[in-house]
Amino acid sequence: MKGLILSGGKGTRLRPLTHTAAKQLVPVANKPILFYVIENLARAGVTEVGIIISPETGDSVKEAVGDGSRWQVSVTYILQVEPGGLAHAVKTARPFLEDSPFVMYLGDNLISSGISEFLQAFQSGGLDALILLKEVADPRQFGIAQLNGQGRLVKLVEKPPQPPSNLALVGVYFFTPAIHPAIDQLKPSWRGELEITDAIQWLLDCGKRVDWRRLEGWWLDTGKKDDLLTANTLVLDEWSRRDIQGEVDEASQVSGRVSIGPRTRVINSTIRGPAAIGADCLIKDSFIGPFTSVGDHSHVESSVLEHSVLLSQVTLLQVDRLEDSLIGRNARVARHNRHRSLQLLLGDDTVVEF
Ligand code: G1P
Repeated sequence: MKGLILSGGKGTRLRPLTHTAAKQLVPVANKPILFYVIENLARAGVTEVGIIISPETGDSVKEAVGDGSRWQVSVTYILQVEPGGLAHAVKTARPFLEDSPFVMYLGDNLISSGISEFLQAFQSGGLDALILLKEVADPRQFGIAQLNGQGRLVKLVEKPPQPPSNLALVGVYFFTPAIHPAIDQLKPSWRGELEITDAIQWLLDCGKRVDWRRLEGWWLDTGKKDDLLTANTLVLDEWSRRDIQGEVDEASQVSGRVSIGPRTRVINSTIRGPAAIGADCLIKDSFIGPFTSVGDHSHVESSVLEHSVLLSQVTLLQVDRLEDSLIGRNARVARHNRHRSLQLLLGDDTVVEF
């Protein structure tokens, strides 16, 4: 069983955070989404992993993931020159996949459960494809499944204007090589892409064995909904542990499930978990409340923040209260005086609300 992770694309939907980086590398609780995906494959025993990359962000993905030895998997990088759709990515990966069955996993999908149980169901069921379905609020944004009265899969449609149900295709799919001839006969869809949804429909039409399982627990398609704050909250709430590697001085209080990375110094501050503070940070005279992640090399001083995500190298100085905020890499938010005016230097596509 091989793994195929899709980590290409331009990440336009998560701008401005992804002007300079891949959307799959955006961190949740200080860890790139892509790493959760690799961990999930490794835990299910998938050790040969191909990662689809794009010319725009491929180098940053390679640099972050390396050869996969950290997860005891071997990684092969596969360049997809044009973003031609999920099925086009499978086509591009054909030399890597050979005639092996494989699990395709979208690198921006975060799910609360493991995939071992589904992998087992796929293998023991003699199936040609197994898909995962989950109810969603807006089915027009996803591939949608229609079931018959007996709960059997009858139809799949990509982003239907009039959805036949609210059951969306989750970005984790299990296939035998039967998917390749299905992909070979595809024509580009209305959005100009080769849709994996159409290829699975073709398998159904040909009488191949396609089954589905309902995904219990939460699923976040982080590339789509811009709900990184939600993802951060859920992951901190459910998975964070207390792990203090940096230095916390006597005047500080760190309570609950808080992780503090190496070489970070916490001075005269209070941190209430669940929260994740990266490596090489300085937290001084500040209060950091629950559901907050602070990326590596950040500097927070004389500030109060909670339920927020700071990516790496962020500076926050004398900010009275920051809530429900997402601050990009290398950004600086500082108050210099007590006047009511703001002095801003903002990059393209940024948002300021107060
Ligand atoms: C893709 C698939 C869609 C699926 C979704 C899950 O959508 O085409 O069927 O429901 O991933 O994340 P896209 O991200 O290309 O809009």
